[in-house]
Amino acid sequence: MPTEAPVLEVQDLSLRFKGAPANIVDGLSFAVRPGETLCIVGESGCGKSVTALSLMGLLPRGVARVMSGTATFAGQDLLALPERALADLRGDRISMIFQEPMTSLNPSYRIGDQISEIVLRHRPVNRVQARARALEMLERVKIPAASSRLDDYPHELSGGMRQRVMIAMALANDPVLLIADEPTTALDVTIQAQIIDLIEDLQKESGTALIMITHDLGVVAEIADRVCVMYAGRAVEEGPVAAIFDDPQHPYTIGLMSSVPSVGPRSGRLATIGGMVPAIDNMPSGCRFTPRCPFAGTGCETTPALVELGPSHRAACHYAPLERAFAEAAG
Ligand SMILES: Nc1ncnc2c1ncn2[C@@H]1O[C@H](COP(=O)(O)OP(=O)(O)OP(=O)(O)O)[C@@H](O)[C@H]1O
Ligand code: SF4
Ligand SMILES: [Mg+2]
Repeated sequence: MPTEAPVLEVQDLSLRFKGAPANIVDGLSFAVRPGETLCIVGESGCGKSVTALSLMGLLPRGVARVMSGTATFAGQDLLALPERALADLRGDRISMIFQEPMTSLNPSYRIGDQISEIVLRHRPVNRVQARARALEMLERVKIPAASSRLDDYPHELSGGMRQRVMIAMALANDPVLLIADEPTTALDVTIQAQIIDLIEDLQKESGTALIMITHDLGVVAEIADRVCVMYAGRAVEEGPVAAIFDDPQHPYTIGLMSSVPSVGPRSGRLATIGGMVPAIDNMPSGCRFTPRCPFAGTGCETTPALVELGPSHRAACHYAPLERAFAEAAG
């Protein structure tokens, strides 16, 4: 269990879109330590990307507001930093990889120049040194015949190769934190596995802390040290990967695990999770999982706090630990 101080510690983060009646992200806390991989999982629309964008200062300020919280990185609160200071961190100490590389790569610049630019922006190097670094990075992300690819434009590369270029750019300045938001969803399955392996290898080599946002529990099982399970903008469970897979304690996590046959927990507790994530204008007061929860009962109309269930394993359910609730219900 890592004991070093977190690279990033998010506390009580709440975000709200302009005019919305409730917070899209609500009281979210998590931390990631040096060299650690934290996977953030949860259904579509639960606020994973919005969270990542807010940390990077990339949520348009007129569109969404930070309602509360801090995100402490190297002694500074990212949420309170002026844009200029955040721009200095982005691509340098903190990098992000998005789902679709074409949204981040400039189609009209050669890839070698794009990597060189990010090195020149943050490092005291000249153009020749920056280009050498670009080549070195293309080699590290295993782009075949890298030197002949430096002058390619993004459209000359396959989707998988473009995502490798994104990874090369993201790691070019040796960030201490890498945030990857569904980096493989847009790719073929075999390519997905290669990219995940690559990210894992590079992260191990460099000791970068990694926040991996994903829907894919197979990826979580492969790379996570810790897992934060989000539901409707809140963390409902978090803990070491083994605890989340082998001893999930929140009804939503149990449902998530049961929907993946190969990694399902003890058989047959819950089948699939019926229903959908509530819309922002229809958020239940209290526990946001209430409308879908087979265990919902007395007390669920108030918001459950995350409570400690084991070594750094916490769940936000009034009935956790569920075994005890079952035993009590059985009399
Ligand atoms: N500019 C916006 N204005 C209003 N609502 C928005 C805006 N951008 C996103 N949303 C809403 O915020 C919610 C959270 O979106 P977000 O993209 O963070 O989800 P996610 O967990 O990343 O989902 P996915 O797994 O599909 O990527 C969604 O319901 C989305 O419709
Ligand atoms: S607090 Fe209630 S509704 Fe929420 S997950 Fe627990 S049992 Fe279900
Ligand atoms: Mg997303």
